[in-house]
Amino acid sequence: MKRNTAAPMIRVSSEDLAREPHPHAPSKLAHVVMKTPRRREMAEWYTTVLDGTVTFEDRMITFITYDHEHHRIALIGTPWLLRIPGIVWSRHRKFWGVDHIAFTYESLDKLVTNYRRLADLGIEPVWTINHGPTTSMYYEDPDGHRLELQVDNFATNEELLAWLDSGEFEADPIGVDFDPDVLEARIAQGVPRRELVKRGSAVPAGARPRAGLRTITWKTL
Ligand SMILES: [Fe+2]
Repeated sequence: MKRNTAAPMIRVSSEDLAREPHPHAPSKLAHVVMKTPRRREMAEWYTTVLDGTVTFEDRMITFITYDHEHHRIALIGTPWLLRIPGIVWSRHRKFWGVDHIAFTYESLDKLVTNYRRLADLGIEPVWTINHGPTTSMYYEDPDGHRLELQVDNFATNEELLAWLDSGEFEADPIGVDFDPDVLEARIAQGVPRRELVKRGSAVPAGARPRAGLRTITWKTL
């Protein structure tokens, strides 16, 4: 099939990416550091949401990790009074600066199991959308930073490229909202995962799926 070269996504194969010389590039993305007037609450939230652990804490800073890295998230404490202007500041990401930090899970099942674990603790996503390349659940921390917990819908870049050839992404590069409870139920029913990673696969029966710009509301922005 001929590729449409006018597509908005850069089309490179896994081989191309492996071959691409970047001799001066860093070896990995290491961590994110945030300043916060509610360090304890934030530390609790991050260790819960990322199933992480505090590796260091003193009067100024808290280190949190969930893997081999000594810290993936660090929290620097700021004065309590900053919570007041912070109520307004926490909305700034809707218009300016870093929009979100994304974390990838190994499988759709792990993403959905984690959704259930967090929902049972009262932590609900603010947006659940199948972008096409990923199935994504967005959460907001107590300061208003947004985290995307996601799974890649395609195992390889080649599979992604084949999907891009369908034109679905060009027609709608935002995606289709899904209901995580419906997705969970369909997983329990044993629906093949390759079906469930398709856009529109986990919409409540009879509901018209929200897609494209219709998915953008004040809450999801
Ligand atoms: Fe993202």
